[in-house]
Formats: sequence, structure tokens, C-alpha cells
Amino acid sequence: MANYISEDKLSEIRNALDIVDVVSETVLLKKTGKNFVGLCPFHAEKTPSFTVSPDKQIYYCFGCGSGGNVFSFLMKRDGTPFGEAVRTLARRCGVDIPERSLSPDEQRRVSERERLFEANRQALECYRQALWHHSEGKQALTYLERRGFLRATLEVFQIGFAPPGWDYLLGSMARKKITPALLEKAGLVVGRKDGSGFYDRFRERIIFPIFDEGGRVVGFGGRVMDDSTPKYLNSPETPVYTKRKVLYGLNRAKEACRSAGSVFIVEGYLDLIALHQGGIENAVATLGTALAPDHVRLLTRYAGRMVLVYDSDEAGIRSAERCIDIFWKEHVDFRRGDVFREDQADTRILVLPEGHDPDSFMNRYGAEAFKRLAQSAPGIISFMIDSAVARHGLSTEGKIRVVSDLQAPLTAVNDSVARALYAKQLAERVGLAEAVILERLNEHAGRSGQRPAGVPAGAAGRAVTRATGDERFEQRIIAMMLQFPEILPEVVDRGILGYFTNDRMKTLGESIVSLWRGSPESVAGLLERVEDAAIREQLAFLAMGDESWNLKGCRTLLTRFVEGHQKKGARRMAIQKDIEAAEKAQNDSEIKRLLGEKQKMAVRREKQKMAARREREG
Ligand code: UTP
Ligand code: MN
Repeated sequence: MANYISEDKLSEIRNALDIVDVVSETVLLKKTGKNFVGLCPFHAEKTPSFTVSPDKQIYYCFGCGSGGNVFSFLMKRDGTPFGEAVRTLARRCGVDIPERSLSPDEQRRVSERERLFEANRQALECYRQALWHHSEGKQALTYLERRGFLRATLEVFQIGFAPPGWDYLLGSMARKKITPALLEKAGLVVGRKDGSGFYDRFRERIIFPIFDEGGRVVGFGGRVMDDSTPKYLNSPETPVYTKRKVLYGLNRAKEACRSAGSVFIVEGYLDLIALHQGGIENAVATLGTALAPDHVRLLTRYAGRMVLVYDSDEAGIRSAERCIDIFWKEHVDFRRGDVFREDQADTRILVLPEGHDPDSFMNRYGAEAFKRLAQSAPGIISFMIDSAVARHGLSTEGKIRVVSDLQAPLTAVNDSVARALYAKQLAERVGLAEAVILERLNEHAGRSGQRPAGVPAGAAGRAVTRATGDERFEQRIIAMMLQFPEILPEVVDRGILGYFTNDRMKTLGESIVSLWRGSPESVAGLLERVEDAAIREQLAFLAMGDESWNLKGCRTLLTRFVEGHQKKGARRMAIQKDIEAAEKAQNDSEIKRLLGEKQKMAVRREKQKMAARREREG
């Protein structure tokens, strides 16, 4: 059972370990100056941007933006939850973790999850038995074998069978003392409308257990064996099953993804199983739902290249459009200001020949043919150019449409080099001068306020607005707070964060202050208490910098920051006074001039706020 681990223990473990040793098990590190660098284990790269600081005991990858302390590293490397990572490291350095008891509320939640996992596990066992031993299981086996699935494969994926009847599962679970109420919570049975008990959700279906990354059963899918509908029935979401966070097959695909550096993303249960059976084990399935940002985040731990496999051009286009959105959210990196570089978001779209899904393709042509096809799968933008050309043709009208279709996606590519290369590609394809395309993109990006369809908030704005002086200043103060915590009392006393205009920076600042208030300690210790991975990574980035701060320098910086703001405030007040004076003197032309100036200042302020908001939403 999961247990709470005290702060003291965590820092004891952290102190007993060196992050450099732990990382070295996975990454070949080389010393450069104060830090060590190596090739990032979390994304594919050719030049090392993965940086480990022995002084601060943190890591940060300047390529993919992952970062944190030794615990976050292990969690990400092994795909394990916090508690497990801590225990692994504790064992390693011989620290004993006494088990503190949980609060009644925590206990209830933890034990409910445990009980749900247990119910699912028992149900899996029951379905599995039925496939191999129940008299009706034969038809399921026959069906699957007829479709080319080997018995060994069915065993690997722990396929099962739900016999016909309304209470097969209820009955067998009752013998194992698993209550209908718990089964209902697990989504395995459904309450009768009239309140007179429950019935099995899955009846006369082939059962596909769904596992989480760690191999625990979180839900099930059930397929009919004929043409009736719905073809598949799936578990609902439960406290242990969040669909946008689970990828079918990931528990078995992890290692293969890591060694191949790539992952195939397919839609269906049987598509995934067919690929694995054919030896393509770096594959996962989204189970018919759209790929979600959480899925992508999960996968970036294991593979740099993602190949989305679709059975039609249309599905491919729809998903390519969505991907641009998702990858924006995933890879937009305010720390670098650039994104969408091929090496960090290498996403390809593989459309199978007409009428085939991965399962039927593998059956008909085999794994080698699949791999060959994958070799030539285009990147998202190239795919979109190709399909726009296929859709509209290359007549004059067609070209206009092609360019206009590509405007929004290209604008969303924020890496200027990549964008220029794509613009060139598009220009060549439609036979236009590159400059014309670039001009169109700039027009598009410049359209203030409204953003083009398909481009997430912030994307267009970011392409045209640079971080303002204020934002850079605020970012520097946050870095200072992390790298030189001695300054924190002063930051608080002088109400520095109150002047911040960038909300994201302000939130970061506030969390640093409140975390440090809890108990002042190292950056590595602080990162631990940040639950949100994105915030933790931002903090790791800002902490990684190596300015040699001292109290005097810090104070000067803070004073300059405050004075800058006060000056603006003072200027506003002075103008207001002048306006009043001019009104008294009935000096109309002066009033007009002053009002104009006041308005200009207000517009400037508003623009800054808007830029900050865009940044925040981006
Ligand atoms: P498909 O209709 O493409 O089915 O749905 P499939 O995976 O090729 O299955 P076979 O080959 O006909 O047996 C793709 C995925 O969408 C989800 C399932 O996860 C399925 O694998 N789906 C589909 C449902 O959840 N419910 C449905 O009714 C249909
Ligand atoms: Mn199929």
C-alpha cells in the first residue's frame, strides 16, 4: 500500500545520493564547467542538451524541457509514481522508510483505488478462465484464431471472454467476496434502473483488459463476435481509469519504444495486438479516442518520434490538425521561445492504403511492408501540404486554396528556421515565390486580436511579439529567487511580486515563496513539492542558470525593478495633475495633448497585459 513519506526522509535520501551517479546509469555524462551534459534519455537528439548540476542536484534538458530533481528523474525514466521512485532510491542508499499512517481521508482514497485494482484483477482472471475453459469460450477463441491471432499472443495480452448471461461476473465475484457496489464503481456492472440490483456490463464479448503504464488493470474493452452493435463496449472512467491518460499497450511497449526511439500510435485494440504479434512492439493504441495532450506527454518519455497511423486520408488530416494544437501545447517553450523543431516534436502521419487498418495491413502484407511504409511517412506539415494539393489540385484556384489551407498551420510553427523551410517547401510545391508565401504568413500572424482557426491561443501572438522588457525582468527575478534564496525575505518585504505583470511569472514567484516558507532548503528539495510537472520543469530551467548572485547585486536589481514601476506610476499621477491644472486654466490644446499622452500610456499598459495573458494561455 502506498504510504506518505516524510519531508525528513526525502531530504535524507536526497542528501545520501548524488544525482550525477543516478543519471549516469542511464546517460553517458561528460563534465563541462560546473555541470555535466549528455544525450537526453527523454527525447531523440544528436547533440547533448541534457544538463545535470551536481551543485544544485537538479537536471534540465534544454532540448525537450524536462527537468527536476533525482526523484523526478527516476519517475520519468521508469514511468513510476513518486512513492515508488523514492522507495527505489531509498533502498539504493540504505535509508529506511518507516511507514507513517495516512489520514483517514487519504486512507479511504488510497484503499478505494487499491480495491478497484483488485476488483479489476479478479475480473480479468475470471474472463481469462472463461476464454480458455468456459463452454462458450470456444466461439471467442475460434473467432480470434480465424482473424490470425495466435494463442500465445492472446495469452500475452491476457485476452478474456465474458460469457452470455446477466450475472456471470457478479456470481463469480461474489464467491471472491467482491461486492456489487465495488464492481459498479469499477464499471464492471451496471445498476438496474428500478434499483433492484445489478447486471454485468460485458456479456458475450471478447474481453481486452486495459493496463496502465505500470501493468495494473484499469479497465476493459469488449468486442462482439458478429456484426451487432455497438462493436466495442468499454469501461467508463473510474477513479483508476482516466481515458486521456491511458494508452493501450504502453505497458508492453515501453522498452521497444525506448530502443527504437519511435512509437506507432494506432486506434484499435486488435490493430495494436496485430503489430505486436508481427514483432512491431513499439506501438500503442488510443482506443478510438483522439490523441490527447496527456498521451503525448506520456509518450515523450519513451520516444522522440511519433508515427500516427490512420486508415484514411481524412482521419489523417483531422488528426494532423489536432496535432498542431497538441504539440503547441506540449512543446511551446517560453524558456526558449522556439518550438516545433523536428528533433523535439518529430511527428509523422502514416496513412495506410485504402481500406486497410494496421491489423488488416499486417495480415495481408506483413511487418516488413509496414516498416517500409513507415520509413516514408511524412511529417505533419508535409502531410498537410500533400493532402491540400491532393484535395484542391494545382490549378490557379487550387493553388490559392492550398496556400490558404496551410496558412494557419504554418503560422503555428514557431521555430523560424523550420517555418521558413516549410514555407519554401510549400512555395516549391505550388510554384510560387517563397517571399509571397512568407508575406502571407506574416499577414496572418499580424492580424491582431483574433486568431486563425486551428492555431492555439498565443501561437500567432507569439510569432509577432517578443517578450517585453518587463517579462524578461520578471523572469530574471524568478531565476534569482531560485538561485539565491537568501534574497527571498527581501522579495517578500518589498512586495516585489505585486508589481509583476506576467501572471505566469507571478504564480511561479508565489509558489517559490510559499514553498520556501514551508521549510527552507535546496532547490532540489523545493522542486519536490511542486506537483505540476510543467511548473517544476520551468523552475528547473530557471534554477539551472549560473549567475553569480550576491546580496548587493540582487538588491540593486530589485530596486531598479521597483523604481521602473514607480516611475510609470509617478508619470501617470503627474499627467493627471497637469490635466487638472490645464482644465482649470481652460487650456484646451494642452488638455488635448495631455489626454493623448495619458491614453497612449494606457494603451501601452493594456498591450503589455494582453501580451502577458497570451503568454499565459499559450
Ligand atoms: P474500429 O471500428 O476501427 O475497429 O475502431 P477495429 O479496431 O478495427 O476493430 P475490428 O478490427 O473491427 O475488430 C477502432 C477502435 O475504436 C474503438 C475501439 O477501441 C476500437 O478498437 N471503438 C470502436 C469503440 O470503442 N466502440 C465502437 O463501437 C467501435
Ligand atoms: Mn480492424
